[in-house]
Amino acid sequence: MEKSLSRSFKEIYQTRPEVLSFAPGRVNVIGEHTDYNLGYVLPAALNLRNYFVASRRKDEKVFLWAENFKQKEEFSIERISFSEKNRWANYIKGIFWVLEKEGYGLQGIDAFIWGDIPLDAGLSSSAALEVSVIHGLKALFKLELTPKKMARLAQKAENDFVGVKCGLMDQFISVLGEENKALFLDCETLRYELIPLYLEKAALGIVIYDSGVRRELASSEYNKRRIEASSALDVLKKYGIKGYKDVDFKMLEERRKEMDEVLYKRAKHIVSENERVREAVEALRNNNLSLLGEILFHSHESLRDDYEVSCPELDLLYEVAKEFSGSVGARLTGAGFGGSGLALVEKKKIPTFKERIFKEAKDRGYIQPKLYEIEIGEGAKAYWLDKKEGK
Ligand code: GLA
Repeated sequence: MEKSLSRSFKEIYQTRPEVLSFAPGRVNVIGEHTDYNLGYVLPAALNLRNYFVASRRKDEKVFLWAENFKQKEEFSIERISFSEKNRWANYIKGIFWVLEKEGYGLQGIDAFIWGDIPLDAGLSSSAALEVSVIHGLKALFKLELTPKKMARLAQKAENDFVGVKCGLMDQFISVLGEENKALFLDCETLRYELIPLYLEKAALGIVIYDSGVRRELASSEYNKRRIEASSALDVLKKYGIKGYKDVDFKMLEERRKEMDEVLYKRAKHIVSENERVREAVEALRNNNLSLLGEILFHSHESLRDDYEVSCPELDLLYEVAKEFSGSVGARLTGAGFGGSGLALVEKKKIPTFKERIFKEAKDRGYIQPKLYEIEIGEGAKAYWLDKKEGK
């Protein structure tokens, strides 16, 4: 991979690249719509990644080539403006913008970008792009950045430059993920623990289901859920509650009459999902994967009925997995309204499971989904291609 990326860089820029970095996409095992509600999440890094290969320039110019789109973009770090034409470039510009704003000294670069994470599929290709860039710039310009700071700055770039009000989960796992481990994160304190996923031993595999549905309304509905969740919390805050992690079902039921039904349902999802993340961590610690599977099904039900972020194409995965004898659990993953889901399936039954899904999608007249069996990969890394230079 390193060789072919370096070669492609050289063809475009006629010089050798100095640094290569990569950052993974993610699948969220459980804990959906809990990150911006300062609750718990349990994502894992994918073995699908975004790569960033770059070298420094002597001026302030940034030249970018996105191999996936065969498009280029150019800007000066003194004037960073939003690109209407090349949407992908804004994630990179956002990183330059946030680093400049925070006072990190940068210069221009030549860069080549390529990734194998399916785009707009709810697998965080954008967080992977941001994190690969910040990691690469950290190495190139020897910036003092801790892993947590990189995740926070990448999130800030997406929130304030790109204009997507995402939580911290995607950037955090992309920076801090580890092979064959899920990351249990408290999004309020940012304390985290890596939890081994012994899927191989249990002869289980993770199947990612890309529904193929891309909804325009996803970002407006996402922002609407954020507002509803925080309005429900405002009601609870009148009674001394600081955040969702302090709320249990009894408290929520006591205040139910003070909020409308929609707000109540949103709060119910967050409270129950936080609880499910903790239960899922316990199930993993006890190596009880069938219990984990049950919890995944419950999460999907709550996202479908209480948070209302599912759609018929995502429900299909849940419904097939529920009745298929070799699958232990399934749910939508990411923001919802389309995008992807995950299923835990007995390895040897994965081909039959896939056939069932394809057939069901066809019978229901849905878009043909894509199915991938994935491995849990490592978090972001950067290194100098010319080892001496990196000193
Ligand atoms: C998107 C956001 C994340 C998170 C999920 C829902 O992926 O980027 O921050 O809020 O939706 O859990």
